[in-house]
Amino acid sequence: MTGIWKLTLGASTEEGLLALTGARVDESLISESPCPLRQARISCEQVRERFVLRIPHDPAQRLYGLGLSFRGMALNHRVRHLRADHYGGSDNGRTHAPVPFYLCDRGYGVLIDTAENVSFYMGGAVRTDAVNPPLEMNRGRDADWRCDQDAEFVEASFIGTGVDVYLIAGETLKAITAQFVMLCGGGCLPPKWGLGFWHRVHIRHDEAAVLSELNQFREHGLHVDVLGLEPGWQSNSYPCSLEWDRERFPDPESFVSRLKASGTRVNLWENMYISRSSSLYKGVLPLCGSHQVWGGAVPDVTLPEAREMLLRHHERENAGVSGYKIDECDGYDEWLWPDHAAFPSGRSATALRNVYGARIERLLTDMFRARNERTYGLVRASNAGASSLPFCIYNDCYDFRQFLTGLATAGLCGVLWTPEVRNASSSEEWVRRFQLAALSPLMMLNAWFDGTKPWSFPEAEDAVADTIRLRRALLPYLYDAFHTYKAQGIPPFRPLVMDYTSEKRLADIVDQYLIGESLMAAPMTPGQSERDVVLPPGRWYDFYTGAELTSSAIRYACPLERAPLFVRGGGMIPLLQEDGSLFVRCFGERGERTLYDDDGVSWNFERGECAVLRMSFSRTDGRVQGRWSVESHGWASAYTHVEFA
Ligand code: GAL
Repeated sequence: MTGIWKLTLGASTEEGLLALTGARVDESLISESPCPLRQARISCEQVRERFVLRIPHDPAQRLYGLGLSFRGMALNHRVRHLRADHYGGSDNGRTHAPVPFYLCDRGYGVLIDTAENVSFYMGGAVRTDAVNPPLEMNRGRDADWRCDQDAEFVEASFIGTGVDVYLIAGETLKAITAQFVMLCGGGCLPPKWGLGFWHRVHIRHDEAAVLSELNQFREHGLHVDVLGLEPGWQSNSYPCSLEWDRERFPDPESFVSRLKASGTRVNLWENMYISRSSSLYKGVLPLCGSHQVWGGAVPDVTLPEAREMLLRHHERENAGVSGYKIDECDGYDEWLWPDHAAFPSGRSATALRNVYGARIERLLTDMFRARNERTYGLVRASNAGASSLPFCIYNDCYDFRQFLTGLATAGLCGVLWTPEVRNASSSEEWVRRFQLAALSPLMMLNAWFDGTKPWSFPEAEDAVADTIRLRRALLPYLYDAFHTYKAQGIPPFRPLVMDYTSEKRLADIVDQYLIGESLMAAPMTPGQSERDVVLPPGRWYDFYTGAELTSSAIRYACPLERAPLFVRGGGMIPLLQEDGSLFVRCFGERGERTLYDDDGVSWNFERGECAVLRMSFSRTDGRVQGRWSVESHGWASAYTHVEFA
């Protein structure tokens, strides 16, 4: 069964989360027939100021979702108090994407469309009037006494009086998430340059320091696709003027355009807490909240007038840069506005916090769209309704395993997560971190504090350079995977359980993940020279050697220079060569695929301007015979030469 149903419960006077993040909800996907799911029998009640929902649940079923997590995936018996926040080391609901959407491995997902902080009790809150309560046990005698109890409901509550709930049915977690993403307007398609290599320079760099650093990259044979300027590009930061420091960058337009001409785009750091020194301050102040953040005024970004003012200011100061890093929109209670802060729109401070990042993402995306330029950026907090916005979430935590878990699982809630590289305590860790970043939605060295370079560990320079080359070679494949995200809602990076939902042995794997339709990554953690790898059903091959892996679980060893990558049987991986041609690696006996392509920079793809390469191969006596053709829809593909092996 597939489909989306919308239920309106209680009587809310507030806009929902999707409305507040500005999502272009695709109403045509909502079914008009009565919802056949048992979960539609939701009961609700008002308990003091909280609106409480009880959603039928079967304790034998596994639950997933509820936003970005860094330690695990399954949610049964867990409690999450969702709230936009900087992740503080435990998956308790305070996170960079507090998405109130959970999924069940038996075919459904539930979105509670409120921007308020929602508390979820995932099948462990048992009521005294339960019809089938768990048996009472005796800890003094019963060996299988447990402290968690099985409830027949998931319960959720928030401050409010009603809400819309979306129920989504699908055979697999992938099918459920894909519909959720399409309901919210689809996934994003970043520009091609955004999928290249990013480097953020030290916070104090001026124009001369940036240019000299880029020269060093050239001397080391490396190209920077996106150069990030950190707070120091502004005349004042923390609070922010959002205006160039003309001493450090006397002529930003010419600086940015020279970089662009040499193939390097510029991305600017910002947070939206406005300094008195900014020309924006006086005008925006009446549209700001009752409390400051780091001495800066906090625009109420749910007000169109405030957004318009911020938009005009960004347009004036943009100087030709291609994107932004929206920092610190997640919070930390100690420095963000308090929950009782008042905002001119009259909206609650907690709702504002949950949508702050997403609202700014939309504002900036719309600015670039109006110029027919694509953007790709970074954000520290996002939410449901923002999947179509080309921004990737990051944070300051820097724990390798947690970065890997975040990367593997973010797809469940339709967001993108990047494990940035900053520093390392050994050359081995340095390489492993680059490999993890290379197999993520955005590959970035963030040297804002440490001033590191890819060659900071000279003995690892070649391995890091190879990793950057691998990323570049994978561009056509990744771009196609992002197009599938945009057009079908399937997240480009996702845990195995999303595709193989009925395979119990894959249900908890958070250190391997799928990339697009044919690749699976199983990154090595620093300190490992080999690891266990679980292979999903079907035939799988080693990306590097082409050897078939014949068992469903293997012990895998690989040299430091390689990031373990596996390819599904029949998979065809198009690799971009230095001369712009494609070299398609084919795995198994036969296969076929399409490869999406477009100009990679404009929004013309929204008018259908693209090219689709159709490819197939068969193998006879070990020799690969490949075939390909191009279908052009108002745009001729850049790939004119294709080889197969
Ligand atoms: C942090 C952010 C870092 C860096 C720094 C600059 O909050 O996560 O990536 O941008 O601010 O002050």
